[in-house]
Amino acid sequence: MVQLTDSYRRKMDYLRISVTDRCNFRCQYCMPEDIKFQDKSHILTLEEMLTFAEACLALGVTKVRVTGGEPLVRRGVVKFVGWLKDLGFDEVTMTTNGYLLKENLDGLVEAGLDRINISLDTLKPEKFAFITRRDHFHKVWEAIMAALESPLSPVKINAVAMRGINDDEIAEMARLTLKYPMHVRFIELMPLNGDTDGSRFRKLFISGEEILERAQEELGELEPVEKEDPAAPADEFKFAGAPGTFGVITPVSDPFCARCSRLRLTADGKIHPCLLTDLDVDVKAAIRSPDPIPAIHEVLWHAARIKPAAGTALPEQSRRRTMSQIGG
Ligand code: GTP
Ligand code: 5AD
Ligand code: SF4
Repeated sequence: MVQLTDSYRRKMDYLRISVTDRCNFRCQYCMPEDIKFQDKSHILTLEEMLTFAEACLALGVTKVRVTGGEPLVRRGVVKFVGWLKDLGFDEVTMTTNGYLLKENLDGLVEAGLDRINISLDTLKPEKFAFITRRDHFHKVWEAIMAALESPLSPVKINAVAMRGINDDEIAEMARLTLKYPMHVRFIELMPLNGDTDGSRFRKLFISGEEILERAQEELGELEPVEKEDPAAPADEFKFAGAPGTFGVITPVSDPFCARCSRLRLTADGKIHPCLLTDLDVDVKAAIRSPDPIPAIHEVLWHAARIKPAAGTALPEQSRRRTMSQIGG
């Protein structure tokens, strides 16, 4: 089989599909409060997304992650996970804010979902409401506990680190790994929330290195854990005897572009070869053409050719899309 590979000889074998730009939260780091969602007429159907995935599979893509917005607000997404599994991907995963997870857990397991990542930036309900602009801490926490009791355990927890907002909870979040089989990862803030001058980003940014230092100051030595997947973005560690791991994702201070294997499909039918540049390629016309697979392949190879060696996390760079529109 021909393997989709970019101009820098990086294999592209990991597809992230954003099934919707909509979300039931309004996280400050991800979107402005008054965001306008796309008109539904511009959004690909799940069948069209599946056709795109099928074309990717034929070029050696082995893993798919379903993202959003919030993927669970899209009707039919559980069924979509099942379709992706039936196509034959090695791994089908999802990143969710957890709000609708508890009621969808059994369905997702039955559909064959392999793993789930859940966002949780704080353990304090009032702060949760401040960050996400929605007062739903308890519902998310219950979903996390339910996921830990399900075949999807262990789960990964994503926390976006923000100085002065949740950096006082680094140790408390790290402590969860001593109690639960959770992989807690702090993600460095990226300037992708639609804020154009970057001043907020500069004020809030906190590096992965500082996060690790502060966790160790309170909880003792962290031992590095060897990565299962060398392309995975997180650097993971463990406290002695802990059932879970604690890690950082450092796209800003220590970018992992050299080992990037990702390609992204947005809900409105654009391929984003890199999260941190505005480059995109329309693939909707190819998906809707009479012979879609070869047409999509042509667009995929073009996207691979223009994938940059590295993205840039400079806040001043103009960005057409927010994180919620690309899917993280
Ligand atoms: P795992 O295989 O489970 O580790 O998946 P993942 O870490 O790729 O998935 P997840 O959606 O949880 O990603 C966590 C976050 O890492 C993303 O939401 C992004 O914020 C960041 N991230 C992931 N991939 C990239 C990337 O290619 N570039 C940059 N800059 N950040 C990324
Ligand atoms: N910087 C870093 N991570 C972000 N996420 C959303 N916006 C940002 C940002 N500006 C993360 C969320 C979620 C994942 C999809 O992306 O925490 O876990
Ligand atoms: Fe929604 Fe996720 Fe963005 Fe929060 S980070 S607003 S939960 S898409």
